[in-house]
Amino acid sequence: MSIEPVDIDSITNAALSAISAASSLDELKEVRIAHVGDRSAIARANQALGQIPIEERAARGKLIGSARANINQAFDDREKVLTKERDTKALTEERVDVTLPTNRKRRGALHPLTILSNEIADLFIGIGYTVQEGPELESSWLNFDALNIPADHPARTMQDTFFINPPDSGLVLRTHTSPVQIRTMLEHEPPIYVICPGRTYRADELDATHTPVFNQVEGLVIDKGITMAHLKGTLDFFASKIFGADVTTRIRPSYFPFTEPSAEVDFFYNGRWIEWGGCGMVNPRVLQACGIDTKTYSGFAFGMGLERTLMVRHGITDMHDIVEGDIRFSQQFGVGLR
Ligand code: DAH
Repeated sequence: MSIEPVDIDSITNAALSAISAASSLDELKEVRIAHVGDRSAIARANQALGQIPIEERAARGKLIGSARANINQAFDDREKVLTKERDTKALTEERVDVTLPTNRKRRGALHPLTILSNEIADLFIGIGYTVQEGPELESSWLNFDALNIPADHPARTMQDTFFINPPDSGLVLRTHTSPVQIRTMLEHEPPIYVICPGRTYRADELDATHTPVFNQVEGLVIDKGITMAHLKGTLDFFASKIFGADVTTRIRPSYFPFTEPSAEVDFFYNGRWIEWGGCGMVNPRVLQACGIDTKTYSGFAFGMGLERTLMVRHGITDMHDIVEGDIRFSQQFGVGLR
């Protein structure tokens, strides 16, 4: 059987031009299957070698062999070029410009005041207290009357208190955390050992030492046989934990309607006495208003400004820095803002 000789040159040319026309590695793969695969023209020419006259076989075999070598070489060369092209393209197109602005949201962090408030709560929890909270929108009965603050007390005037409309709503923005004392005594039987941190409001202009929204921390203890010595010991403990182990307090006679006797508390820090807050023995009238038997129980209370505490401890001279929310302020406290 004689076989139509297949033109090896045209097979080679067809393969070479398909190879150079392949514009991607994927295309080149297809070209490879079509032109050197098992069913390609050159493979078939090779398979047909056995059927041609023996004297022509060697020459034709050589021809096919060198054609295959040429084609394979062309494949290798083209593959190198296309691989390089693909890599270069990936490098430029998939490049990440690390200088572009991001839309990543910064993760928040606690404000230094919140950190201080948590720190105070933690240290009182450590000596058996619990944390009590109350609403910032408070009934004026709890904010004033139950605390023995009479209707004509200056703290009630329009200058100090944010009243809530309508005028007979009976609501104010709490002017101190002391109403939480009343809420606690109304809800719980003694013994009571609580710390009450929270936001408070007074109609002050914002300046270096005042802010209309500020924070206080209130302490209240009601138990059998509680005396001023317990109060003083607790204040010393508080001051030493917050300002330093060797910091002590002193109390000076003062007046608050809800304590009797009442005192101002100062602490000795960096060589001078600094005013810290108010304190005293809970006025029996307040205890009675809360249904507590004054023959069995007595107690003490204290209240401090958190902003002031933070300012003294960290040498902050302007209240604006605390309230304005510039994160550079917080960052100085080692607050991690990522
Ligand atoms: N409530 C007072 C104020 O806002 C602070 C205070 C004084 C709280 C004496 C107390 C206290 O518990 O016993 O100025």
